Amino acid sequence: MITTVEQHLLKQQRSVSDATGTFSWLLNGITLATKMVEAKIRMGALSDSLGAYGAVNVQGEHQQKLDVFANEALLHTLGLRDSVAALVSEEDELPMMMNLDPERGKYIVIFDPLDGSSNIDVNVNVGTIFSIHKRVVSDKDDIEESILQPGYKQVAAGYVVYGPSTVLVYTAGSGVHGFTLDPRIGAYVLSNESMKMPEQGPYYSTNDANADTWPPVYREYLAMLRRGELGGKPYSARYIGSLVADFHRTLLKGGVFLYPPSTKSKKGKLRLMYEANPLAFIAEQAGGMAVNGPTRIMDLQPAHIHERTPFIVGSRREVEALQKALAEAE
Ligand code: AHG
Ligand code: MN
Ligand code: MN
Repeated sequence: MITTVEQHLLKQQRSVSDATGTFSWLLNGITLATKMVEAKIRMGALSDSLGAYGAVNVQGEHQQKLDVFANEALLHTLGLRDSVAALVSEEDELPMMMNLDPERGKYIVIFDPLDGSSNIDVNVNVGTIFSIHKRVVSDKDDIEESILQPGYKQVAAGYVVYGPSTVLVYTAGSGVHGFTLDPRIGAYVLSNESMKMPEQGPYYSTNDANADTWPPVYREYLAMLRRGELGGKPYSARYIGSLVADFHRTLLKGGVFLYPPSTKSKKGKLRLMYEANPLAFIAEQAGGMAVNGPTRIMDLQPAHIHERTPFIVGSRREVEALQKALAEAE
């Protein structure tokens, strides 16, 4: 008998929220939006969703039509969920306030609606990433305080990778669970329960076109992996350019993904709130690690919703070896 993500989450419900089904109804809004995105992606050039949209977002990036479609799909489906206090999107400069009634607006949903935009038009995997925080109802209920919470406060996180199959991976703090979209019934069906990241992997994953701008220790670290000096065989390289796809392979096969700081950008390129934090939560729940170099990603206190961070995520062996190399380089 199949287990859908909704059924699976209801079983986990106890560990996430006190509300009866509120959280699973919220997740349902996210999965519905991803099915709308998947339907567009499946049609590729036959749909109207390839190419540039013709606007520049707050990141200074040219929005693709699918960025905008995915963003609007999530805003629409989550906007109908009474339990959402605020939404934060990579594509919108400011948070969107929804139900600010502390009694009902219980969750903050933070998302990258379409990750890997540079790959949309070349038929390569792209994704959607989401992070969920509970509202901090303090005496002065300041919604900003509820939004800018460190990653270890997340109540759930997940991603969908749109590829040969469409896979949803999520954690609500009790392990990492994978589901495959069954197009015959339009449901995400449990396909990989309690996923664990291998202790060490065969790959490193990074954009080495930036190598000359990194701190030298990162170049030396990758050379050490190529020489096979971390035990095991010399490493091979895999880099898709869609974070979600590079992360998903790392979760399944092990290894390390790195987007280091550079002279071009001291804080790297990836965004803390809707790329690093959700994937860090999943990595740790699967037995891996996620750091900005010296510090655990989920311990970082965000200062603003679009802040960037260096991001190194993957198997324990490789991440610990990088932290050791950084400590010795000081
Ligand atoms: P987004 O499409 O949401 O802006 O994310 C793109 C990110 C991430 O998906 C990927 O890992 C990284 O950009 C690739 O950056 P480079 O092209 O600089 O390697
Ligand atoms: Mn992204
Ligand atoms: Mn994006």
